[in-house]
Amino acid sequence: MKENKYDENVFFDKYSQMERSKKGLEGAGEWKTLKEMLPDFTGKKVLDLGCGYGWHCEYAADHGAVQVVGVDISEKMLKEAENRHSRENITYLCCPVEDAQFEEGEFDIVLSSLALHYIRDYDQIVDKIRKFLRPGGYFIFSAEHPVFTAEGSQDWYYDENGKPLHFPVDNYYYEGKRNAVFLGEPVIKYHRTLTTYISTLIKKGFAIVDVQEPQPPEEMLDTVPGMRDEMRRPMMLIVSARKENE
Ligand SMILES: C[S@@+](CC[C@H](N)C(=O)[O-])C[C@H]1O[C@@H](n2cnc3c(N)ncnc32)[C@H](O)[C@@H]1O
Repeated sequence: MKENKYDENVFFDKYSQMERSKKGLEGAGEWKTLKEMLPDFTGKKVLDLGCGYGWHCEYAADHGAVQVVGVDISEKMLKEAENRHSRENITYLCCPVEDAQFEEGEFDIVLSSLALHYIRDYDQIVDKIRKFLRPGGYFIFSAEHPVFTAEGSQDWYYDENGKPLHFPVDNYYYEGKRNAVFLGEPVIKYHRTLTTYISTLIKKGFAIVDVQEPQPPEEMLDTVPGMRDEMRRPMMLIVSARKENE
């Protein structure tokens, strides 16, 4: 059973209050790093898996993509996408990523921003992405970092004054479901090791182009509450991979 947390009113409302929801890409701490890793979109067909509000779809369309498809399980997120980031050449599809069907080699670029840690079967998704991409096409994704997802609670240990002492990393090699808390709400996420994220791609015929663990931007360190603590452990992983020829 796939969880559709973003369609729950309370969760959706809390998500809509986040900086990244209000300000878009510029409000997302990892954007500076991700942006530098993106390939040239000119003339390209782009698929965005777990597109949410559609910020990345819009970016691709505004930077030369000829066709963009955004897929998301949440009707509420896609409604926002339609309202905020509608373009003639963007199509939004309400569908779990796991069930998405496209032609072989239909896309030049597959993006996925912060959605893969909601997907139980990474192996299956990588197979699908490989099928959807033309040879030489790019798969670029961000996901919550394995250090961040390992223990499951996704929260610091605090001292008696509420000051973060340290971040728990535990059960690292036990991959699978975690009962996490995000925005104060229970959310199911999936932990996998760094090795799994990278070596699955290599085994399935991708060349790794770049791997980054984005640090919080300097200018957000003292302006966004809690951002300085983001220097203490990685929260995100970004990978760029290219589909090798058959
Ligand atoms: C953290 S949001 C990221 C949204 C967007 N990619 C961004 O970076 O702004 C995660 C998104 O993944 C979507 N999602 C979660 N599980 C999914 C699934 N199984 N299939 C499709 N979308 C899913 C959620 O509905 C949500 O819109």
